Amino acid sequence: MTTRTTVPDASQRALSTAAVRCLSLDNINSNVKAAKYAVRGELAVKAEEYRVKLAQGDKSLPFDSVIFANIGNPQQLDQKPITFFRQVLSLLENPQLLNNKDVLCTHFGYQDDVIKRAEKLLAEVQSVGAYSHSQGAPLIRESVAKFIEERDGFPADPQSLYLTGGASSGVSTLLNVICNGPNAGVLVPIPQYPLYTATLSLLDAQCVPYHLEEQKAWGTDVDTIKKSLEQAKAAGTDVRAIVVINPGNPTGASLSPADIKSVLDIAAEEKLVVIADEVYQTNVFIGEFTSFKKRLRELQQEVSGKYDNVELVSLHSISKGMVGECGHRGGYFELVGFDPLVAAQVYKFISIMLCPPVIGQCLVELMVNPPKEGEPSYELYQKEYNGIREGLRQRAFALYEAFQKMEGVECQEPQGAMYLFPTITLPPKAIEAAAAENRAADEFYCLALLDATGVCVVPGSGFGQKENTLHFRTTFLAPGTDWVERIVKFHSEFMAKYK
Ligand SMILES: Cc1ncc(COP(=O)(O)O)c(C=O)c1O
Repeated sequence: MTTRTTVPDASQRALSTAAVRCLSLDNINSNVKAAKYAVRGELAVKAEEYRVKLAQGDKSLPFDSVIFANIGNPQQLDQKPITFFRQVLSLLENPQLLNNKDVLCTHFGYQDDVIKRAEKLLAEVQSVGAYSHSQGAPLIRESVAKFIEERDGFPADPQSLYLTGGASSGVSTLLNVICNGPNAGVLVPIPQYPLYTATLSLLDAQCVPYHLEEQKAWGTDVDTIKKSLEQAKAAGTDVRAIVVINPGNPTGASLSPADIKSVLDIAAEEKLVVIADEVYQTNVFIGEFTSFKKRLRELQQEVSGKYDNVELVSLHSISKGMVGECGHRGGYFELVGFDPLVAAQVYKFISIMLCPPVIGQCLVELMVNPPKEGEPSYELYQKEYNGIREGLRQRAFALYEAFQKMEGVECQEPQGAMYLFPTITLPPKAIEAAAAENRAADEFYCLALLDATGVCVVPGSGFGQKENTLHFRTTFLAPGTDWVERIVKFHSEFMAKYK
């Protein structure tokens, strides 16, 4: 017989929880509580509440849609998936469709190369419902190695490639292996994507911040890095790695080959592992992307000895670029210059989680090996790819131009990635009003923006910023210009209110 219990109200629940449950907020892993991840923090939660209200027909809000400009989630903001990718995936998920190839071609517009690619991938993985090799399916790693070789002009070894469930899981793996206790430290750029600080918090390791130079288009500065490193060492931290996000999030900055060399110099001199987060490598508007791997190999050829033992790991992902398949969770990292015994421990670590999602692995293959010129799907692929690229560029510059016109807002010219990170100078009265609410001023501004317009951005404090500066980060993924106008109007009203 089952007994019915009445649901206790909130205060009773709080009182009784320690008595009836094992877990309470006071006894769970304190590192989890300490970790911060502003991209999906208070503002994002509130934005979601507004979205639900609007969906329920609520007419009390001063806007009719919520714009999630807080996160680089392209397909949430209407970026269309690339047809070739999804056609192949559909066959991988439902191979029975391959029994009707004629129908696929004549009725659904599938081309021969879609069918061939699906058959090739299925022959490799058998079923996307089966576990694969922990490092990822060998054929897919071979495709990635070929892609890296074509991109950099230097060979890549499939045995050194690890497919992942997105770059995030790769970063988690690497930091878990690198951080060997509370004394271990990792140099992290500020501002940074909070995955790094959050993961270091989870591991109870030290984040060693180094500031990027806003006035030099958010570039890296060797002296600043060295200063942070020396300070951390003096405080007893065992600094083991340096993270570089290139192109940058939230800054959008693309590092020059000279900047990359400076980081590799420090890594070689100080024996630091370089973690090169290159998930935005195709989101570059100005200049050309140079990978850390390419620059390292060049330096190894040019200079004898100095760079031979640099340990580099570079990460890529299907989440960004023109692929934008972040919901499918796929990516890879490449280890260069690692001790094989350490690489074996990396392998063991990932094998504990069995394997990355196989459908995500297949998307990695499609990303690195898209239709080539002369193949039937090439024309449509190119059209879609270029259309997405051009749309992103146009939206980045439209937003940048709007920021140029806003009082107290300064923004670096868009260079890449999916974000702008303007500085905002707020009137003293706004700063006082924020303090009265016990909030950081940039958080106060972003909340007011959300409440007034439905546009959700992230305060600069979520990424780190120099003292006495305020920023916010917005993606430029949302279609149309209406939301940009909402920001402009809000900003002038906000400035007038606190003048
Ligand atoms: C710099 C950077 N690295 C990693 C990630 C995570 O990517 P993934 O979806 O591949 O885990 C993001 C996501 O926004 C990012 O901006």
